[in-house]
Amino acid sequence: MTNNPVLVTGGTGTLGRQVVPLLRAAGRPVRVLSRRGRAAEDGAVGDGAVGDGAVGDGVTYVRGDLLGDEAEAAARLDEALRGVGTVLHLAGGPKGDDEATRRLVAAAQRAGVRHLVYISVIGADKVPLGYFRAKHAAEEAVTGSGLPYTVLRAAQFHDLAFAVVEKMAKLPLLPAPGGVRWQPVDARDVAARLVELALDGPAGLVPDLAGPTVYEMDELTRAYLTARGRSRRRLPVRVPGKVGRAYRAGANLTLAGAEHGRRTWEEYLAERLTA
Ligand SMILES: NC(=O)c1ccc[n+]([C@@H]2O[C@H](COP(=O)([O-])OP(=O)(O)OC[C@H]3O[C@@H](n4cnc5c(N)ncnc54)[C@H](OP(=O)(O)O)[C@@H]3O)[C@@H](O)[C@H]2O)c1
Repeated sequence: MTNNPVLVTGGTGTLGRQVVPLLRAAGRPVRVLSRRGRAAEDGAVGDGAVGDGAVGDGVTYVRGDLLGDEAEAAARLDEALRGVGTVLHLAGGPKGDDEATRRLVAAAQRAGVRHLVYISVIGADKVPLGYFRAKHAAEEAVTGSGLPYTVLRAAQFHDLAFAVVEKMAKLPLLPAPGGVRWQPVDARDVAARLVELALDGPAGLVPDLAGPTVYEMDELTRAYLTARGRSRRRLPVRVPGKVGRAYRAGANLTLAGAEHGRRTWEEYLAERLTA
């Protein structure tokens, strides 16, 4: 069983692109499922088949939309899961992670998957936003499935923090949402932890993975501006309603009991801005 392919849903995304080479380095054949796939490999499933060269040998790309037509998605999943023992479910977007995960779980049950690893988000059960609710419902689909599982909740990735502050920094005044803190983590650190978990046995809900430092949102944006040699006048704002209250209460943070990624926001900025 050890050298059966590992299925990585969303293996072409920010996180998935870091996960796939680590699995290959551990000697595991990999199948990647995503909507766009890699053109040359569309639909091709074959153990150990060569991918498009971007990540090297032993990667097969399968095209499939977890949220598309239900029968079509099930057929694609059945194909992608053939002979697979371990699944890393990383495919996701702003909406629909609950339904996508339910479909994956049903297919994994049909295929007799032995270990389903799911990436969730810190605060999935606390932050009253649609994305977090869907992540929590997806977690429940996994944990209630009867399949052996591991669920890891991670903080926001540096890449997401970068996209957010880059947008904010384009505004004439820099919004400074009082009391909103982030603990961004590097996607490479999350990938390394996920691969370690995937190669070990099912471990249930494991300790959260956050970045090494907690920042006020304002500190993240100021570090970005400093690294770019820019400045902006601040505009203090208050996030309204229950979402604002949840953030100010730290519902998106794990301040005790988390594991921590190694790479800092400042290191990420330096790398990203010189790249
Ligand atoms: N970004 C963060 O800060 C963060 C924090 C904690 C947890 N997470 C979770 O980590 C996971 C990966 O995030 P990411 O930032 O790497 O996302 P990403 O860069 O947007 O990548 C998403 C991946 O999923 C695939 N995908 C999306 N919708 C799909 C669908 N309906 N069917 C099949 N494949 C689909 C995408 O490829 P195609 O577009 O070609 O389909 C891509 O490979 C997500 O589950 C996310 O919720 C993210």
